[in-house]
Amino acid sequence: MKLNNLSLAIISASVLLSGAVQAYDAGDYIVRGGLATVSPNVDSGNLYANGAEQSNSTVDLNSNTQVGLTLTYMIQDNIGVELLAATPFSHKLKGKGGIAGLGEFAKTKHLPPTLSVQYYPMSKESSFQPYVGAGLNYTVFFDEEFIKGNEGSFKSLELDDSLGLTAQAGFDYQIDESWSLNAAVWYMDIDTTGTFKSIDGSTNYKIDVEIDPWVYMAGVAYKF
Ligand code: NI
Repeated sequence: MKLNNLSLAIISASVLLSGAVQAYDAGDYIVRGGLATVSPNVDSGNLYANGAEQSNSTVDLNSNTQVGLTLTYMIQDNIGVELLAATPFSHKLKGKGGIAGLGEFAKTKHLPPTLSVQYYPMSKESSFQPYVGAGLNYTVFFDEEFIKGNEGSFKSLELDDSLGLTAQAGFDYQIDESWSLNAAVWYMDIDTTGTFKSIDGSTNYKIDVEIDPWVYMAGVAYKF
């Protein structure tokens, strides 16, 4: 019994001691991977048809979850530079108001690479490492297409790429020398203009959409 208590004490002490050397240093790389969800906060303008505004005719986008991956390089003990990448997200566009009858009328894929500068306020001894960051997002939309019968009525859907600011917060909780649990959230300013035509080409449509999503990621981090 005494021996068990002693070995427990030794294990606890060694966990605490190893904790003292496991946090981030300048020169470290941290790879974080997990499931990432893009949850749009849509603010849609009205649809324009040949320049004429269609009142109360807006769109919405659904959420999507993919595999997210980030790489951070620590340029100082408390400052890192992070690149966010992911497998392509896929969203459906749905009509609202006067064009609600279209239902889910189109879909698009996008990639939102994001470069951030991060600040880690805790000391190196802490196994809990929260961080905040700010950066730039470039979102590329591709494979835009009409669906559910609307491909017979409309054609040539394009969504403009978006460049915008981002803010993020997250934390790592270290479980050993190399591995941590990670959770992170970003707010991204992603705005686009969608254009398309009627199938006979006689009507040109245009709509401005602010997507401005929250992006949530939960997974693991690995330091090397
Ligand atoms: Ni915006």
